[in-house]
Amino acid sequence: MTMAASSGWQRTHWCGDLRLEHEGRDVTLNGWVHRRRDHGGLIFVDLRDRSGIVQIVFSPQTDAEAYEMADTLRSEYVVSVKGTVRRRLPGAENPELPTGRIEVDGRHVEILSRAGSLPFGIDDRTEVDEAVRLRHRALDLRRPVMQRNIIMRHKAAQAVRGFLNAEGFLEIETPMLTRSTPEGARDYLVPSRVHPGHFYALPQSPQLFKQLLMVSGFERYYQLARCFRDEDLRADRQPEFTQIDVEMSFVDTEDVLDVMERLIVHVFKEAAGIELPVPFPRLSYDEAVERYGSDKPDLRFGMELVDVSDIVARSGFRVFSGAVKQGGRVKVLNVKGKGGMTRREIDELTELAVQWGAKGLAWIAVEEGGVRSPIAKFLSEDELSAVLEAAGAAPGDMLLFAADRREVAAEILGRLRVRLGREIFSPDPRQFAPVWIVDWPLFHRDPETGELDSAHHPFTSPVDEHVELLKTEPERVRAKAYDLVINGYELGGGSIRIHRRDVQEMVFDVLGLSREEARDKFGFLLDAFEHGTPPHGGVAFGFDRLIMLLVGTDNIRDVIPFPKTQSASCLLTQAPSPVDPAQLKELHIRTDVPAPEPA
Ligand code: AMO
Ligand code: AMP
Repeated sequence: MTMAASSGWQRTHWCGDLRLEHEGRDVTLNGWVHRRRDHGGLIFVDLRDRSGIVQIVFSPQTDAEAYEMADTLRSEYVVSVKGTVRRRLPGAENPELPTGRIEVDGRHVEILSRAGSLPFGIDDRTEVDEAVRLRHRALDLRRPVMQRNIIMRHKAAQAVRGFLNAEGFLEIETPMLTRSTPEGARDYLVPSRVHPGHFYALPQSPQLFKQLLMVSGFERYYQLARCFRDEDLRADRQPEFTQIDVEMSFVDTEDVLDVMERLIVHVFKEAAGIELPVPFPRLSYDEAVERYGSDKPDLRFGMELVDVSDIVARSGFRVFSGAVKQGGRVKVLNVKGKGGMTRREIDELTELAVQWGAKGLAWIAVEEGGVRSPIAKFLSEDELSAVLEAAGAAPGDMLLFAADRREVAAEILGRLRVRLGREIFSPDPRQFAPVWIVDWPLFHRDPETGELDSAHHPFTSPVDEHVELLKTEPERVRAKAYDLVINGYELGGGSIRIHRRDVQEMVFDVLGLSREEARDKFGFLLDAFEHGTPPHGGVAFGFDRLIMLLVGTDNIRDVIPFPKTQSASCLLTQAPSPVDPAQLKELHIRTDVPAPEPA
């Protein structure tokens, strides 16, 4: 970074940029007092700005007045310092610090503002309770790790824009105050004052608008779009989050995947210097679930699930044979090298599996010359050896079995696979295993209601050869949909959309959506489709999740400047908060919550 020299207290250089080449240079620096140490006759101040830290030394020999002033400095005072860059004495260098070979001989210091006592120290070593950090977010964001995260966010945003601009995409905004969008989560509603009893919905994504923009002929759209979803929050989910939202016209799946793969490769390289392996492999949805027990597999390690249903279909172990008889499957996960697990560890895993919906967790520990297992006695010798062979078992391995409906057995073992695999292989967070998941089903059956639901959203196109199946066997219909998964995170997803009215109506029929309901919900889109619609498709990537991967955190709040807690509140502003009754009245709203006592 370079700065024009100026008079007064304005900086000539950034703290973190100073190097040996600046030796002898007079500099003015601005920043925060990171640390002050008094070394009998010398005062050392680590001065911090967003570029890093540099050491200033004040001595009475250089400037008595500056030395006196430096003595009054405390942590996080904001100061301007003038001095001369000099080489540190041999032995006094700090190899940990990029500026560690030089220091600044301080001649003048001006206090621009003082700081009171701090709720926590500004460094990356102190473990601070997250609630305290969120309450004092401005201070928390001063910590070097947070500065790096937010700067990474900026770089990634610039890389996204740079790439998409060069590829002919137009950045176009879409409204925040709008109607419900078809993403399927609960909406955040905003009451209208002008239209009593009417509400806007905040967008769960710009889905309908970006499709309209294709009807308008913009051909290639993108937006770093804010989205709002009132859903159960997790470590990688926020109620308010950002998408890299994209839509393209006159394309099919391959065209979208090609540009989007290049976009992601570009962003990793530009923002973080990371080279992703290309081309990204592809897995069909079925294969991902079959082999990894998940539609978002972590491919940094193997540990694939194996189906042993055929081997145990007629075995004396009723849990297995019974499951197969009822149309379910028996799957096994070989946990390499974990044959020494204690009963207690196995019980803990079983408990987890049961919490996730399993009926139990059968196991076989493979030992030199035999097995240790409560179920081996129910298997014939042939069955046992066939199972061991299928699972690729060697002495020292632990085999875990789930017998259940196909999806349940896969999901249980898939979750155990991720948990145990990450423990065993402790994959490097700087290693990335991207994969496109393709060939999704168009519909999922809701296990509770038994009804068919869109697996993505109702505008997702079926593959051409399955259009006729919509009328007869909708569950078999495959979609032109794709997800990008990296290290077990669903980074993004999208689809080619339906642009033919007859196909759209068939899909609404399968969803049990009457013409009137469809018209009421999406009429404006369906109308626009009547006026000449290009084939189109797109994708949205979770921008926050992308930054999580780039900086190596598993907490989404670490990459959002002002995030919400797990219970969707903002500890900084205390939102959501009660409002003035007059405001509610104006909005024609009465709540059934008693008004809070006036303070
Ligand atoms: P989808 O609902 O799959 O698709 O969302 C796309 C991506 O957005 C991210 N994401 C989230 N990130 C943080 N917090 C959340 N609550 C959250 N919810 C979703 C995920 C996800 O992969 N309109 C379609 C895209 C399209 O079809 O073009 C859509 O929104 O990384
Ligand atoms: P049980 O016959 O219920 O005593 O179970 C014997 C073993 O099989 C125990 O280790 C159970 O945890 C396990 N088990 C029970 N049901 C299942 C199932 N559906 N899939 C896998 N293991 C099971």
